[in-house]
Amino acid sequence: MPQQTSQAGQSGDFPPFAQRHLISIADLQQHEIVDLLDRAERMIAISRQERKSLPTLTGKTQINLFFEPSTRTQSSFEIAGKRLGALVVNMSVKTSSVSKGETLVDTAATLNAMRPDVLVVRHSAAGAVELLSQKVGCSVINAGDGAHEHPTQALLDALTIRNHKGRLAGLTVAICGDIANSRVARSNLLLLGALNVRTRVVAPRTLLPAGIENLATEVFTDMEEGLKGADVVMMLRLQHERANGKMIPSVREYYRFYGLDEARLAHARPDAIVMHPGPMNRGVEIDPAIADGPRSVITDQVEMGVAVRMAVLDALLPARNQP
Ligand code: CP
Repeated sequence: MPQQTSQAGQSGDFPPFAQRHLISIADLQQHEIVDLLDRAERMIAISRQERKSLPTLTGKTQINLFFEPSTRTQSSFEIAGKRLGALVVNMSVKTSSVSKGETLVDTAATLNAMRPDVLVVRHSAAGAVELLSQKVGCSVINAGDGAHEHPTQALLDALTIRNHKGRLAGLTVAICGDIANSRVARSNLLLLGALNVRTRVVAPRTLLPAGIENLATEVFTDMEEGLKGADVVMMLRLQHERANGKMIPSVREYYRFYGLDEARLAHARPDAIVMHPGPMNRGVEIDPAIADGPRSVITDQVEMGVAVRMAVLDALLPARNQP
């Protein structure tokens, strides 16, 4: 079909992907990260066509199991699976038997008996998704586990940067905000480090995790110093749901010292782009004028989210599972 392009995005164009699950960026080799970004590039083209579909997952079943709220991740995994032809089921945890006390492992065993090909799981506990992957017979994708990892977010962030800057290696990315409680920061530090991107974390001491000095990243507590010469400014929200007690004296004071506004952004490179994984708290970590301004690529990140999740599903669910 003319709109379908010349089979672009078919998994046959890429060598078989060695991983069965995607739990952590730390499990991926550099070439596997690049492979996923290249697959996603093809999926962007598919998603921009009038007919946004490929038959690569026809006959496969994908269950999205979200124990925490999500707008972007859940809907983009659903769209991704459907664009590739999978049967996609969204399990509502609120109305499932989890609300009657069923354990995570029993829920997993129940879903596993329905013979899905992939479970996409978000959970508030770090390590919960990996535990679940050991109890089921299908692929498992981590859609965010506590403060541990959010691997597809890091992949979509890298794809966004690569598309805007034309490269990744040699760039400087400043990740600013609640680093201590952020799975997005952790996955990004791992992924960007693996691709030879220089990273910085910028936060008050109370929002930096213990042992940050041992990671391959520069640490700044002064926002303006941390932004100097940055090619990319990645803002994070305060993760109140994961923090123990008060992390900052007041939101007003936090914004005064760590909020991204025009004056502060002027310390980054003149062509620096501004990113945010969402959900955003306008007026807390970012000035609405910056969030909606010409240097913001936040909606591009959302578009890349669908492409990356299509790529991950395409890579993890090869034809070998078909009867
Ligand atoms: N970035 C992100 O994970 O957003 P959601 O919580 O809306 O999925």
